[in-house]
Amino acid sequence: MYYDRIQDVKKKLGSELAILAHHYQSDSIVEHADLVGDSLQLAAAIPELEARFIVFCGVDFMAETAAVLASSEQLIFSPDPEATCVMANMAPDYLVRKILQRVSVSGKVIPLAYVNSSIGVKAICAEYGGSVCTSSNAPLMLKWALARGDRVLFLPDKNLGQNTARLSGINPGEIQILDIRNKGKNIRIEALANKKLLLWPGVCAVHFRLNKDKIMDLRRKNPGALIVVHPESDPEVVAMADEAGSTSRIISFTRDAPPKSTIFIGTEDNLVMRLKKQYRNKNIFPLGAGYCRNMAKITPKNLASCLENLVPGNAVRVDSNLVPHTRKAVETMLKVSSGD
Ligand code: 13P
Ligand code: SF4
Repeated sequence: MYYDRIQDVKKKLGSELAILAHHYQSDSIVEHADLVGDSLQLAAAIPELEARFIVFCGVDFMAETAAVLASSEQLIFSPDPEATCVMANMAPDYLVRKILQRVSVSGKVIPLAYVNSSIGVKAICAEYGGSVCTSSNAPLMLKWALARGDRVLFLPDKNLGQNTARLSGINPGEIQILDIRNKGKNIRIEALANKKLLLWPGVCAVHFRLNKDKIMDLRRKNPGALIVVHPESDPEVVAMADEAGSTSRIISFTRDAPPKSTIFIGTEDNLVMRLKKQYRNKNIFPLGAGYCRNMAKITPKNLASCLENLVPGNAVRVDSNLVPHTRKAVETMLKVSSGD
């Protein structure tokens, strides 16, 4: 029933409508999408889209970023605006500003936010000369940010921060995970003098479930198996994996693995189960991250109803005061990561 309702609107609107879906969406959503991608691909697609109505199946920060990048003739919709990201919510903008002011006493601190953050946080990053990144371009953007100040404040994901630091040759001794309690008053400024990277203590509620003991056990029981994980996972988990990368990298790693290989995948289960169905000549297993309950809020039911009500009043609204800075932060990332 919902399938037909969705397809009816798609037929009626044709090229006026584009449905975008993140890789963590369920098959019942992905089957309707015009574009399925990782966070970077979906953000980079927005300025190229000609559709007037863009329906974003993902979590709120993705739809908000799309709204910031969209032209004035385009409208962005979310089937469920309450689909938020637990990790993004761990870095409220007022607190980011407070902590940034506090750590800036130590020298020039460039903020670099993972796109999994509110537009308020992205705007603060641009205001302080920083930018944003995704899991696909985090090493490149960290290099960019390090060249612009004494140290970088990376937020909100401490795991992606540590995993990116390792790829960038930053020693553990040059990293400080910040104590953000008490509005930053617990942070000892003298202790930051020899630090290059300051990390917000946020984590992803899904990748947090992966732990090194389980991987050690798997390695013992399946000596020839391949392990690929998302870099939102704990650094100890990433260190034990054969590969870590964005959702797109996980897909290409799985595609390129030899036939009959056994692959354990540490990321959201909708993607893992889709890969399992797609590559039946390989033995694919989830590592146990499970589903993201916010991504799962997008259902065929609310997608159908969203599509049947594409009126300006239902479009994603963003604070117009934040748009110029947020757009600058995201456009800087798109420019740097495309090599311009
Ligand atoms: P990527 O698609 O960029 O790998 O991001 C994963 C994620 O957790 C999005 O919420
Ligand atoms: Fe946020 Fe993790 Fe869900 Fe991605 S998977 S939306 S980072 S909670």
